[in-house]
Amino acid sequence: MNAPEKTSLEIIGLSVTYAGHGTHRRSVRAVRDCSFSVSRGETVGLVGESGSGKSSVLMSIPRLLPESASVTGKIFCRGVEISSLSEAEMNRWRWRKIAIVPQGAMNSFTPHLTIGRHITEVLEHHFKMPRHESEARAAELVKTAGLNENAVSRYPHEMSGGEKQRAALAAAIACEPDFLLADEPTTALDVITQKEVLETITSLTRDRGMGVLLVTHDLPLASGSCDSLLVMRDGEIVERGPAREVTSRPKEPYTRMLTDAVRDMEKPR
Ligand SMILES: Nc1ncnc2c1ncn2[C@@H]1O[C@H](COP(=O)(O)OP(=O)(O)O)[C@@H](O)[C@H]1O
Ligand SMILES: [Mg+2]
Repeated sequence: MNAPEKTSLEIIGLSVTYAGHGTHRRSVRAVRDCSFSVSRGETVGLVGESGSGKSSVLMSIPRLLPESASVTGKIFCRGVEISSLSEAEMNRWRWRKIAIVPQGAMNSFTPHLTIGRHITEVLEHHFKMPRHESEARAAELVKTAGLNENAVSRYPHEMSGGEKQRAALAAAIACEPDFLLADEPTTALDVITQKEVLETITSLTRDRGMGVLLVTHDLPLASGSCDSLLVMRDGEIVERGPAREVTSRPKEPYTRMLTDAVRDMEKPR
C-alpha cells in the first residue's frame, strides 16, 4: 500500500454490517470492502440504487452510524488515520475537517431556531466564537451558499426546500472543512433548483479547494457535476472512473441500466 496522501481522504477496505434485530435477527452487510479516495478540490460522486449502501459509507467516515453498525477498514484524512482516533479526538475532526450534509438535512432544522442561530451554534461550539462574530460570519456563510443575507433571521418553515438545503450547506461549511460529504443534497428539489444547488457545491469545491463526496441515486445528475464516479451495488463498488467515461461508456450492465433508465426518459416521444 502506498503512503496515505497528505491532501486526500482515503477509505481503505471499508465494510459495514448492521446487527440483526426483529424476529429473524438477520444481520445486514451493507458495505463490503470499499476503497476509494477523495482529493482536495475534487468532487467524487457515489451513485447507486436506493439500499446499495451509499449512506452507510458516508456516515461511517465521520463515525456517525448507529451503535448497531460494526465498521471495519481504515480511514485516513490528510495522512492521519482517523479510524483509530478516540471519540474525543474524532469530535475535533468532525465539522472542522470533515463536514456532512446528511440525507434529509432540509427537514432536520429545529423549528424554533432561525437559520442564523443554527449556524452560530456550530461556530460557538467549535471555535468558542463570541456571538457578534459568529453572527457576522453566519451572514457571510449564507451568502456563500447562495442565499440572501437576511436568510439568517428566517425560520426553517419560512423557506423553500432549496433554500433550506442551501442553509444546511452553509452550516456544513461554517468551520471551513477540508472535506464535505453530502448525502442526496438535491433529492426532493425541482430540476432547476437541483442544478443550482449542485453548482454552488462545485464552486465551493473549486474556490476553497474542498474535496466533496456527493452521494446520489441520480447518475446523470452526478455525471454533470462530478470529476469521477463510484458506482455502488449491493454494498460493493462495481465500477469507477472519470465521470464522462463511466457515463458514456459504462462497463457494467448495472451502470448501463442506471444510465439507460434516464436515456429512455429523455427520448423524444
Ligand atoms: N440502521 C440500520 N439498521 C439496519 N440496516 C440498515 C440500517 N441502515 C441501513 N441499513 C441497511 O443497509 C443497506 C444499505 O442502506 P443505505 O446505506 O441507507 O443505502 P443507500 O443510502 O444507498 O440507500 C440497506 O439494506 C438498508 O436496509
Ligand atoms: Mg441513502
